[in-house]
Amino acid sequence: MKTFLAGATTAAILPMISTGQPARPTMKAIVVHEYGGPEVLKYENVPRPEPKDDQILIRVIAAGVNPVDGLIRSGMFAKYEKAAFPMIPGADIAGVVEKAGSKITKFRMGDPVYAYISLKNSGGYAEYAVATEGEASPKPKSLTHVEAAAVPVVSLTAWQALIDTAKLSKGQTVLIHGGSGGVGSFAIQIAKERGAKVIATASTANQDLLKELGADVAIDYTKTKFEDAAKDVDVVLDSIGKDTLARSYGVVKKGGFIVTLVARVDQAELDKHGIRGASLSVKPDSHELAEIGRLIDESKIKVVVSQTFQLADAAKAQEQVATGHTRGKIVLKVADQPK
Ligand SMILES: NC(=O)c1ccc[n+]([C@@H]2O[C@H](COP(=O)([O-])OP(=O)(O)OC[C@H]3O[C@@H](n4cnc5c(N)ncnc54)[C@H](OP(=O)(O)O)[C@@H]3O)[C@@H](O)[C@H]2O)c1
Repeated sequence: MKTFLAGATTAAILPMISTGQPARPTMKAIVVHEYGGPEVLKYENVPRPEPKDDQILIRVIAAGVNPVDGLIRSGMFAKYEKAAFPMIPGADIAGVVEKAGSKITKFRMGDPVYAYISLKNSGGYAEYAVATEGEASPKPKSLTHVEAAAVPVVSLTAWQALIDTAKLSKGQTVLIHGGSGGVGSFAIQIAKERGAKVIATASTANQDLLKELGADVAIDYTKTKFEDAAKDVDVVLDSIGKDTLARSYGVVKKGGFIVTLVARVDQAELDKHGIRGASLSVKPDSHELAEIGRLIDESKIKVVVSQTFQLADAAKAQEQVATGHTRGKIVLKVADQPK
């Protein structure tokens, strides 16, 4: 027997007739069903994630694109951790809280938030995603959602590398490789905020950006060997690896620190130069993200978004990021900026 609910649309009623239960709402998302190139990123309709008691459901307005998104999609990490297909990529989101689980105390429906989310729960290249309180923080008021989505992963990486790991302090000198990229652009500003002297590297086209971000010394790596301009530094932040990392051990003063994001540190080289080092793997941290948000709202850190793409064009965005020459960040626009 058919039932009729006053005020309900036919579309909403039909699923109830066929299954006896309301159908799970759907959303548009970029979905990966198998490892491969950018062509495996499919724009599809999928069920909307349902927040658990300790999660918020976020209506995503913008999603940041990181180099690691493409590496996961390609299967590079499959030998360590196999993806659970179908998988939605993307760890950086900014949006509005749509629903809060029963154990959530920090957020309410309608709150603007940004987050570094775990792919185990859901992905960011989607109209909706879930986050825990440990992953999300209030969106900086001074940023649009597009700008906010450019912040979480790379700013936390820079923070955890320089502050938590290398313990960079006032008056020290830091060499930041790749200063014009996502991590580097935050690293320069976080280091300046700590009172450090900053030497940063990038190609010719990005020398202006290094200076705008506050670098005291900008090195064009296509023209100058960084070893010639940076000597006896206290800390190196390496996001390039290979030859760049290999040549960096020699520019750190005794007792100094190298932190790399892309390789294992060479213990023999560390010992040879009397320095310490670590490889960093960034982790979500809502307290640090809130602190970074405070610095952004105090105009101490600015966010550089060089390009945006529509969600459906995620493949083009990942291809651009894969060049390794992104200026600041690339962001996917998922929905219109709320009024
Ligand atoms: N371990 C972790 O937890 C972690 C976290 C975040 C990122 N990462 C990794 O760290 C790397 C950087 O990430 P990102 O998001 O900052 O990347 P990105 O936005 O693509 O930035 C890369 C930057 O590196 C510069 N660059 C390229 N070759 C260079 C060289 N030989 N010397 C100096 N600079 C060079 C580029 O500037 P030009 O265009 O001027 O060359 C570009 O601005 C990626 O490999 C990423 O996967 C690791």
